[in-house]
Amino acid sequence: MNIIVTGGAGFIGSNFVFHMLKAHPDYRIICLDKLTYAGNLSTLEPVMDNPNFRFVKADICDKEAVDKLFAEEKPDIVVNFAAESHVDRSIENPQIFLETNIIGTSVLMDASRKYGVKRYHQVSTDEVYGDLPLDRPDLFFTEQTPIHTSSPYSSSKAGADLLVLAYYRTYGLPVTISRCSNNYGPYHFPEKLIPLMIIRALHDESLPVYGDGLNVRDWLYVEDHCKAIDLIIHNGKVGEVYNVGGHNEMANIDIVKLILKELGKSEDLITYVTDRAGHDRRYAIDPTKIHNDLGWLPETKFADGIVKTIRWYLDNEAWWQPIISGEYQNYYEKMYGDK
Ligand code: NAD
Ligand code: DAU
Repeated sequence: MNIIVTGGAGFIGSNFVFHMLKAHPDYRIICLDKLTYAGNLSTLEPVMDNPNFRFVKADICDKEAVDKLFAEEKPDIVVNFAAESHVDRSIENPQIFLETNIIGTSVLMDASRKYGVKRYHQVSTDEVYGDLPLDRPDLFFTEQTPIHTSSPYSSSKAGADLLVLAYYRTYGLPVTISRCSNNYGPYHFPEKLIPLMIIRALHDESLPVYGDGLNVRDWLYVEDHCKAIDLIIHNGKVGEVYNVGGHNEMANIDIVKLILKELGKSEDLITYVTDRAGHDRRYAIDPTKIHNDLGWLPETKFADGIVKTIRWYLDNEAWWQPIISGEYQNYYEKMYGDK
């Protein structure tokens, strides 16, 4: 089996590459990644010499490069993780989100049609459903929840989802879509809440909490997401959407306090800053379908996963130090300077 994994040098994609090489030692995994600011080749170092792995630096919007790779590899399956993924960046500059997340998806699907891939899997997000109110804990996102987006990022992901379903209906491309909640774990880029707070707390720097800190996210350990995608590409039904989440809702402020406690740091580091524009209040996935149809259940409890994650950042400064000492410093100043 040949599988093209796009965005495999990023957070979830790299965890997926590691998972697949381990779970399916007879598969060939080809990673296609542009290596944007969020892609890090050093992450893939442990598998670079694996004969079943190939890395190709290319942009999913580049038709020629994508066509050439599909012609060479004749993939059975394509799993598309490649995306601009950070909501705050999408508020600053929407354009690149539309290019990569929508146009890039169409380029990959055109190549998938041309080369007859057996499955095109789109890695989507629960953010396409918009948000839920804090005072209605009985409400959850199901696969039937209407798409209702808030940010340029989530709109671009929703646009891509609609296009994927259109390719299924119009051309019969065998597609599946997964919509997962917030992931956490190793190799998470330090612009996102959990790694940002761990690394800043380690340096005794202020921890910028948006708004009142009461926004709720539904956290899932990254490996559980990877296992869900593995199940969907093998056993999922073509044309279907699967929600992925582990019923683990947490308010941002509680996560920040937990990290501080785990690191033995003072809550005085917490600094409330101007809220994110259009900030979604609460996400909460109903994972009944993937559980009933494919037998998926999350395996890592948040209490264990967060400790494992904090430990990983403590042990892997060599991974994140070059990231935060480079261009990312300018990013932090630009985004948080006047908040
Ligand atoms: P990430 O930002 O860590 O990684 C994205 C990767 O895509 C990087 O390696 C980057 O170099 C690559 N990339 C970006 N533009 C590209 C292009 N034009 N061509 C080729 N490669 C390109 O993202 P992530 O957090 O790992 O998210 C991966 C996917 O999962 C995204 O599609 C995201 O929407 C989705 N998702 C993320 C989460 C989450 O909590 N992080 C939850 C649900 C869904
Ligand atoms: O739900 C899935 C989505 O989760 C994915 O589709 C996105 O790619 C991923 O980035 C993530 O989006 P969020 O916006 O939820 O993640 P982020 O880590 O940026 O923020 C999590 C929460 O923490 C959110 O309510 C905003 C808040 N926050 C974030 C940062 C970076 C802060 O309070 N302070 C911060 O500095």
